[in-house]
Amino acid sequence: MDYQSWKQHFQSNQHQFDHIDWHVVDHLTEHEKETICTSLQQFQRGENSEGKHLLKYAKKFADPSYAEAIKLFIKEEQRHAMILAQFMDLHKIPRIKDHWVDSIFRALRKYAGLENTIIVLVTAEIIAKVYYRSLGSATDSIILKKICHQILADEDQHLLFQADTLHHFYRDSSRLHQIVTRSWHRLLMTGTIFVVWFSHRKVLKSNGGFFGRFFMETMLVYFEVERSIKRNLATSPERGRA
Ligand SMILES: [Fe+2]
Ligand SMILES: [Fe+2]
Repeated sequence: MDYQSWKQHFQSNQHQFDHIDWHVVDHLTEHEKETICTSLQQFQRGENSEGKHLLKYAKKFADPSYAEAIKLFIKEEQRHAMILAQFMDLHKIPRIKDHWVDSIFRALRKYAGLENTIIVLVTAEIIAKVYYRSLGSATDSIILKKICHQILADEDQHLLFQADTLHHFYRDSSRLHQIVTRSWHRLLMTGTIFVVWFSHRKVLKSNGGFFGRFFMETMLVYFEVERSIKRNLATSPERGRA
């Protein structure tokens, strides 16, 4: 999909949470609240980014529609943070300003240009695809289920969006560069799986989950992203960066 189409997609998705009815009686038991509290705080913080470095790199991309699509993408991620914050306010779960895992991801995203930024970003989004499934089923909250359902639908599109951009880099890079970047991505993905399991295992275990399952589910999403990049490579009509 070209970036003009991605721009239109993000524009048409700006009211994706409007269907949520905040007037329903939404109850969390103490046990449910204790299960999700610190984990939700960290993910809410992680979703909330100004994306300054990402936008700075995106502005250097040859296709000007990319930076416009990125602006809308950042706003969509900020809406994820806002809707989670609204849910937390409803259940009196305080927000946090910082967390060390989030700080590491933000630091990694700043360096080595757009390709690395997208690799770090897509790694977090692959985790999100598995995490929000668990979060949605960790409680009986109707509102949280609806929020997670919508975030998962958005993240499906984000993974395709990032795969489109990684395709541009892979298409024009040497075999050696491809091997190095893929190895870095797999290393980062594997390390992230361990860190996320350690920090969020209460939520990830809540519905019968265990580490092996979390690892497999996450890697399946990772391989799906790799397939999307390769599909793009196979159907790419021309060579040379867009
Ligand atoms: Fe998100
Ligand atoms: Fe995302």
